[in-house]
Amino acid sequence: MVNVLFSAQPKSWAEYEVPLRAAFAKAGIDAQLSTEFAPQDVDYIVYAPNGPVTDFTAFTKLKAVLSLWAGVETIVDNPTLKVPLCRMVDHGLTESMVEWVTGHVLRYHLGMDQFIAVQDGVWRAGTAAPLARDRKVCVLGLGALGAACAQSLARLNFDVHGWARSAKSVEGVTCHHGEAGLSVALGGADFAVLLLPDTPATENVLNAERIALMRRGGFVVNPGRGPLIDDGALVAALDSGQLAHATLDVFRVEPLPEGHAFWAHPNVTVTPHIAAETKATTASDVIAENIARGEAGEPFAHVVDRAAGY
Ligand code: NDP
Ligand code: OXD
Repeated sequence: MVNVLFSAQPKSWAEYEVPLRAAFAKAGIDAQLSTEFAPQDVDYIVYAPNGPVTDFTAFTKLKAVLSLWAGVETIVDNPTLKVPLCRMVDHGLTESMVEWVTGHVLRYHLGMDQFIAVQDGVWRAGTAAPLARDRKVCVLGLGALGAACAQSLARLNFDVHGWARSAKSVEGVTCHHGEAGLSVALGGADFAVLLLPDTPATENVLNAERIALMRRGGFVVNPGRGPLIDDGALVAALDSGQLAHATLDVFRVEPLPEGHAFWAHPNVTVTPHIAAETKATTASDVIAENIARGEAGEPFAHVVDRAAGY
């Protein structure tokens, strides 16, 4: 019998309790699942950054922490955490990120706003969108989410370039890595899609100099994390016309404070960190499979590299 502590917001417990119990049964795990245990009795913690556990010191027999979130920047540096930290890689989450990113890229590619926002009875001359094959998309981050989004855009014929820390091979996508690779990936891009984790190495990766590499009138879509973008440089580029529009789902401070420049900027679309959500049914299977691995003495899947920060 293993004791699994669920440490997230009460609304997540309502969502996850039944699917997690079902997933444990399916994986043949004899588990007791609860939101309350004496810390010294806990084997695994299913964790969200907005849950009650922030200090792991008292969890003396803990075997692993299983994050419900893909992004782990709020826990990765926690000095009280001494056991493996597994991030969430969930195909439900991936599918929804692919839909969200593809939707926002297509919105800009097809120039949908000009017709949606203005329908005033005037038949104006307009131009049809170019073909996707004539638009370059740069996806920064080619992990679980970035690679899937890049592939989906490539299937629509966009000229997709991706950038990661290490060399990658993603079907249909021209892959780059390292500092020099970033300039090539972003050079002349019509779109920058950010799906990097928030680490010291990725802060302000999209700065004034790199925005200037993009094609004039380009678009930024950021479902990654707020600190990936130099906000001042982004606003300056939107004001100067170097960028035409940005869709931002994530911010340095969330909720985005009232009165923040992004709220009122005509060329910024703010979405409230809803690009993609871990799906309880599929994510519960991922968690159960990882506990089964741990109990079988196998290495955990999706273990965070604490030194790299993701
Ligand atoms: P992964 O860890 O699978 O992928 C991260 C990618 O970023 C990898 O390709 C990695 O390179 C690359 N990377 C990391 N550091 C650097 C660097 N310094 N230079 C270049 N490339 C780098 O993460 P996911 O794809 O699962 O998720 C990405 C992020 O998406 C999450 O960290 C989270 O912040 C965000 N997210 C946002 C959601 C939302 O609703 N807005 C929902 C879920 C996630 P390499 O492959 O070489 O390791
Ligand atoms: C995540 C997120 O990291 O929702 O999972 O942002």
